[in-house]
Amino acid sequence: MSQPASLPTHAASAENEQRERIKTVVHANADAAAAQLAAEIAALIRSNDAAGKPTVLGLATGSTPVRLYRQLIRLHREQQLSFKNVITFNLDEYYGLSRTHPESYWRFMHEQLFNHIDIPAGNVNVPDGMVPRDGVFASCRAYEDKIRQAGGLQLQILGIGRTGHIGFNEPGSGRDSRTRLVTLDALTRRDAARDFLGEANVPRHAITMGVGTILEARRIVLLAWGEAKARVIAEAVEKAPTESLPASFLQGHPAVSFHIDTAAASELTRIRHPWLVGTVDWTPALARRSVVWLSQQVKKPVLKLLDENYSEHGMADLLTEQGPSYGLNIRIFNEIQHTITGWPGGKPNADDTHRPERAVPHSKRVLIFSPEPADDVLGMGGTLRRLIDQGHDVTVVYQTSGNLGVPDEEATMAAELVLELDRVSGSAANPGAAFARDVRQQLAAKAAFDGDTPEIRKLKGILRRGEARAALQACSVAVSRARFLDLPFYEKGRYRQFQIGDADVAAVTALLREIKPHQIFATGQSSDPSSVPAVCFEILRRALVATKGESWLNDCRVWLYRNPEQAWEPAEIEMAVPLSPRELSWKIQAIYHHKSQRSQIPSVTEGRHESWQQAEHHNQTIARHYDALGLAEYEAIEAFQRWHLS
Ligand code: F6R
Repeated sequence: MSQPASLPTHAASAENEQRERIKTVVHANADAAAAQLAAEIAALIRSNDAAGKPTVLGLATGSTPVRLYRQLIRLHREQQLSFKNVITFNLDEYYGLSRTHPESYWRFMHEQLFNHIDIPAGNVNVPDGMVPRDGVFASCRAYEDKIRQAGGLQLQILGIGRTGHIGFNEPGSGRDSRTRLVTLDALTRRDAARDFLGEANVPRHAITMGVGTILEARRIVLLAWGEAKARVIAEAVEKAPTESLPASFLQGHPAVSFHIDTAAASELTRIRHPWLVGTVDWTPALARRSVVWLSQQVKKPVLKLLDENYSEHGMADLLTEQGPSYGLNIRIFNEIQHTITGWPGGKPNADDTHRPERAVPHSKRVLIFSPEPADDVLGMGGTLRRLIDQGHDVTVVYQTSGNLGVPDEEATMAAELVLELDRVSGSAANPGAAFARDVRQQLAAKAAFDGDTPEIRKLKGILRRGEARAALQACSVAVSRARFLDLPFYEKGRYRQFQIGDADVAAVTALLREIKPHQIFATGQSSDPSSVPAVCFEILRRALVATKGESWLNDCRVWLYRNPEQAWEPAEIEMAVPLSPRELSWKIQAIYHHKSQRSQIPSVTEGRHESWQQAEHHNQTIARHYDALGLAEYEAIEAFQRWHLS
């Protein structure tokens, strides 16, 4: 394979990093990375303090740096790290949001960091989102001047958006751009929709430091967690710098590094296609991955790959070790073939030497964990139905109520409905009606973006339970099979601010002990660690650790499913459950019952991003991939991977 046109801008520390143009450190998890960076910042502050100089930091908002800020707060409390001589400049602010707005970055920074450390108020700088339109230019210039007067940024912390933005420098931003007013990309607005309770509420503009402003920082550290960032990280690190991916401009900086977790690193060549950058130990998994990759590269089914295809694509040593191609092709073809099963709970009375799931015991006790209502049907609605049809004892566990995702209008409508029922039935002193009346009043009194009262959250949770039950029925699952845990971490928290407590783990542990499942289906294992699926997965993991050694666990397999936005490559799939056109349409109907999760204003949304559309596309894409490899052509496939408790 051809090498990058220019040499990497950092001294590559290993052969397998040769494609990387930015020093990229992969950490076991986000906490480890945050702790290391916090220590670096603490050392910088202390050495500046000793020299009698201030420390000038560039800061970011969003989910990504929250762990870093927690670490800095910890260092302040436990190790007396002082921020008295620290001056901060934030990257950006939404245009049109006042400081008091719950989603303003000014407020975010105070809630997540500044309120918990000893930084003087006058040392904090966040671009002013309320400056009148005709004053924006001057205000942006003044911001830049202030950075310069402070001596320039010593260390700039960055996150990265899925568009490749840094700050709010969206695709199209030039390398020399300065602090300015920008228009937000559609994908960025969609990603912010959850925080703003709907895409329509997300501001269209923001003020951001420019790429040029960022590049003037003496040191830059970009953080990224979770699989959703993997593609954009690989492109920023390995592809030539381009305006269509502003983070790639960081390549030119003399002291930049990326600190990322394993999920965000998963698309780097050294991890995804290691045979392209060095010698590898050809494990069965790697051989399979490389052959599937080769088949996709040369657009030929696996069984038609020739020796020369292997040697022309840097895989001659695989051929030497495990070839010739004919036998290797057949072996890999069979391996993939054996991932396909219409019997996700195991096929009774069948030889299961090559089946993903064991036949015995036949009726299995199955626990399906759905972090929020809808995740179950989105990720595995077809398989869920099959498990039921094939006689398994399935329990669907909704870990959280999902009430944070319900728009107010839906709750108002539900409250009105109860009141109307009350009027129609004429029953006196109906406590349900009194509750609905309270909620309606609270909703009416609520200002846009205010947090919900416990009563409003309760009603929203009830709504989502109703949707979950309707969706289960569409999958022909009896509603009695649903369990709603309403885990406390979620009920007490807000997005980005979830903290796992003992009660969360205890609730899941108790359920595991009660059901003693033979099979568990779960999701969220490689999601952004602050997201609800990731928090829910971590709670399950801790619950499994707590039950280690119990006999049922020896006979329990854990299968991961994924949300439709995160596809597994065919070579990573360990169980592929085909769906007929009919099964796919049942699945879509089930997703459709999660009415509160649909776009509120379909006319302003473009493309394929309704969740049912994504699920349909995702499952059909997997089927197309299998077809292209030369396997049977199905309408759609749901994919799973086995997970082992280490
Ligand atoms: C935030 C910022 C953005 C975010 C990016 C990632 O100040 O400038 O570039 O870093 O959108 O956001 P999260 O961390 O929420 O995934």
